[in-house]
Amino acid sequence: MKLLVIGGGGREHAIAWKLARSPRVQCVYVAPGNAGTGVEEGVVNVDLPSIEHQVDFARTQGIAFTVVGPEAPLAAGVVDAFRAAGLRIFGPTAAAARLESSKEFAKSFMLRHHIPTAPYAVFDEPAAAHRYLDGVGAPIVVKADGLAAGKGVVVATDVQDAHAAVDRFLVGRSLGHAGARVVIEGFLAGEEASFIVMSDGRATLALASSQDHKRLLDGDRGPNTGGMGAYSPAPVVTPALHARVMREVIHPAIAGLAAEGTPFSGFLYAGLMIAPDGTPSVLEFNCRLGDPETQPIMMRLKSDLADLIEAAIDGRLDQAEAAWDRRVAVGVVMAAAGYPDSPRSGDAITGLPPPTNDRHVFHAGTALREGKVVTAGGRVLCVTALGDTVRSAQQAAYAGVEAIRFNGAQWRRDIGHRATGRSAH
Ligand code: AMP
Ligand code: GLY
Repeated sequence: MKLLVIGGGGREHAIAWKLARSPRVQCVYVAPGNAGTGVEEGVVNVDLPSIEHQVDFARTQGIAFTVVGPEAPLAAGVVDAFRAAGLRIFGPTAAAARLESSKEFAKSFMLRHHIPTAPYAVFDEPAAAHRYLDGVGAPIVVKADGLAAGKGVVVATDVQDAHAAVDRFLVGRSLGHAGARVVIEGFLAGEEASFIVMSDGRATLALASSQDHKRLLDGDRGPNTGGMGAYSPAPVVTPALHARVMREVIHPAIAGLAAEGTPFSGFLYAGLMIAPDGTPSVLEFNCRLGDPETQPIMMRLKSDLADLIEAAIDGRLDQAEAAWDRRVAVGVVMAAAGYPDSPRSGDAITGLPPPTNDRHVFHAGTALREGKVVTAGGRVLCVTALGDTVRSAQQAAYAGVEAIRFNGAQWRRDIGHRATGRSAH
């Protein structure tokens, strides 16, 4: 069968790579893809600039099903459009995707369904927001309501920073309409984990646990980014915590969306803060796989991803099971000069190591120019490797990183440090 993946980042490269390994799959089209998907065996890039083009392509090419990577097309209703055309697609409708596209919707939904999350208040008026901040003080978190590609959250340790964020979002409209409303929420301390499941609207199948590193610099310092690396499994997610998150977060979310008439089919990602006493709280929901979490997760998935997604599309996920490589996977992101503020494009990339069974370089912001691979985005590559221990996976990933050259490349030297700190490995 022929499949279509929508998106062009590292997450989509990993999804397409994994789907192409299915014996039942002849070709995976990726729209638009990147230089990495362009050379992947069994994968073909296609330029489909609108939802109409995508629907048309899926129909005329006889695409068996489509998988959506990023949040923007989901929020724009790509799933609704495919379904209306009678085409099979895996992802939530625009209504269900509000769990990510509106922080206010997500917070009120969690309150309605007793899902643990930080206390919050919502503001459209700067004066009211400033008064509220003066009352609660710092530390405090200010979030733009809408989709802001990782730029919409300010964790303020000083209340002046929170006031400044309110002014930037509500008055200066630095994020446009996405910041026309803000959610101010209580600060949560602890360790973060990414908890990702597949759902068919009713049943759920948990993926392997993972954790990403959001800050630009070693030691979790510097500005927030989309994620500078990730690893799987995340030792913080013990079997007991896993059971608790399914019971307190995932099941109520899936049941709640179904009860509200907007069942969630797709990948559901809960960004969790695990308090020192082990209590999980939801920082955010994403209605898609995480990037770069997907890259290590796909390296560890032994089951056929096409089978799992088909089971979910058909509403048979309760009968599906996923098998995982017991090894550790570590993915190190190489970012462009100037990332995250103003990434530079067009730097030539050399030294890309050929794939092995245990290591794969997933491309994100790359393009082919006159036959050469060049940088074309903030996060450029994610070098992902398997190892028997966290350390051996790190060594294999970093050996790949060291071989790759492009001007101004930035990467963290400590991806996976929380896992090595925690286990005997
Ligand atoms: P979000 O996009 O909502 O996940 O926020 C981005 C990052 O900000 C998270 O990964 C956390 O590191 C941090 N963050 C968000 N909300 C909170 C909170 N209530 N308390 C502490 N840190 C937070
Ligand atoms: N790595 C975090 C995200 O995909 O939102």
